[in-house]
Amino acid sequence: MGQVHSEILPGRVQNANMTDYSRAVSEFRWEDVEKEFSWFHTGKVNMAHEAIDRHVAEGRGAATALIYSDSAREERYTFADLQERSSRFGNVLRKYGIGKGDRVFIFMPRSPELYFSLLGVLKVGAVVGPLFEAFMETAVKDRLEDSGAVALVTTPELLKRVRHEELPELRHIIVVGAKADPEHGILSYEEETAAAAAELEPEWLTLEDGLIMHYTSGSTGKPKGVYHVQRAMIQHYYTGKIVLDLRPDDVYWCTADPGWVTGTSYGIFAPWLNGVANVVRGGRFSPQDWYKTIERFAVTVWYSAPTAFRMLMGAGLSSLQGIDLSSLRHVLSVGEPLNPEVVRWGDKIYNQRIHDTWWMTETGAQLICNYPGMDIKPGSMGRPLPGIEAAILDDRGNELPPYSMGNLAIRTPWPSMMGTIWNNKAKYDEYFRIPGWYISGDSAYMDDEGYFWFQGRIDDVINSSGERIGPFEVESKLIEHPAVAEAGVIGKPDVLRGEIIKAFISLREGYLPSMELKDEIAAFVKAGLSAHAAPREIEFKDKLPKTRSGKIMRRVLKAWELHLPAGDLSTIED
Ligand code: WT7
Repeated sequence: MGQVHSEILPGRVQNANMTDYSRAVSEFRWEDVEKEFSWFHTGKVNMAHEAIDRHVAEGRGAATALIYSDSAREERYTFADLQERSSRFGNVLRKYGIGKGDRVFIFMPRSPELYFSLLGVLKVGAVVGPLFEAFMETAVKDRLEDSGAVALVTTPELLKRVRHEELPELRHIIVVGAKADPEHGILSYEEETAAAAAELEPEWLTLEDGLIMHYTSGSTGKPKGVYHVQRAMIQHYYTGKIVLDLRPDDVYWCTADPGWVTGTSYGIFAPWLNGVANVVRGGRFSPQDWYKTIERFAVTVWYSAPTAFRMLMGAGLSSLQGIDLSSLRHVLSVGEPLNPEVVRWGDKIYNQRIHDTWWMTETGAQLICNYPGMDIKPGSMGRPLPGIEAAILDDRGNELPPYSMGNLAIRTPWPSMMGTIWNNKAKYDEYFRIPGWYISGDSAYMDDEGYFWFQGRIDDVINSSGERIGPFEVESKLIEHPAVAEAGVIGKPDVLRGEIIKAFISLREGYLPSMELKDEIAAFVKAGLSAHAAPREIEFKDKLPKTRSGKIMRRVLKAWELHLPAGDLSTIED
């Protein structure tokens, strides 16, 4: 990967607090963070205990923990309330023999019950797997099957997408908002929790025991189950403090759904480990609704994503009419590159500098960030946190000097690093192919002050509106459609969404290209996988470029799309 021409790059300004940063880095010890956990003294580990029960035990039980609202409900729960609700649910799981190490999945829209049950799963030492509500049949089945989930918490509507008869390991289904149906093995959340005891002694674990699984996409194969362990809490807590800058009186809002890692690491763990009031807004995105949420609950710290900020920017000043956002003290972003233009707009509109943060499902928590007290260079992801070492490596693992583009890599280990990829040690090992380093799959460069600048993905992974989509999963679904002979899927640059999914398709004999067919094929993917995995653009081709071994060359499709030279074609079929 080539040397970037340094004159044209931002980031060469003098940084006044460089010495403070160097000192923070050299004096940092993870052990100082660990000392703040109860297990440091007792040896008894459980995330739900540290995030919830511990606050009650230490006299903060009456503090607000959860502020939930949607168009139909508005409810507040204290830490004591969450302790009780999660204990009841934990007792339900124990009654059915579910405990340490079992995988329990939760498939439902945001609601207080989602949070109660997630904490209850953790209390009994089981590993929780939250699934995004937009997943359709195939996506749900793939994940439940691969994880060997023994129980599922869901709602009556979403239950229709669960093919439980095809999932022999799935022994218990607990439905929120329904009566029990013993004949079909359905338990009622309400009936069961009402009958359960309100106290529960958590299952005591070690730092290496399981915590949570999130499925995420790579460029090949089905989504992989990223398995995190209890140890991650050290970093959730620490980054909550130094990056989110959480303080006891804050009202914090992370807009991500718990179906994605941001919605758990930063929508559950970081705020509650820090004992802070956590706002959850159900329902769909709308600029008016979001601004009203900030105003109504006087949100002080707000963590969202570039796509959302771009949509808010697009909604213009009228969406801000009569709205008071002066409660905001700190605004952060994650998921995709944060455009400097958006940062400057935030300066003006929110009177806040939007702080970009970089991390991944696999890393479990933030690693490279703009955090309070440092100079922000718009367009940069920031600097590695004290305790984290990042570098740019060439493909052989040599560290490259500033302004050279290469593989963004992190020195192993760090507390929230994934424990494994479920059922797929080979995939896990690929990330660690260079001894001593985790290879992220992103390309970036570092400037001469240690700021990192994102350049792109090295593989074919698509990032649309901050959601990570594997082209293979979409292609596999496309070729299940009777009209589709072959399909190749790429990310096409898009101003609002970062990238959109574009599919190149060759049709089977007897099918003719038409607009209706495009719509039908897109709807087919939407119904089978999810709306965010459906191609927004489809182009029919007589033939797709393939290697001699039959692999569709997405790189060539992308070059077609961008009108760029296709590069090395020596392996192409003809
Ligand atoms: C990929 C990880 C864990 C956060 C949610 C996304 C991209 C993430 C940034 C950023 C540019 C970013 C990377 C990364 N990404 N944050 N600040 N600037 N790109 O998690 O779904 O696991 O995706 O998102 O490409 O590898 P994810």
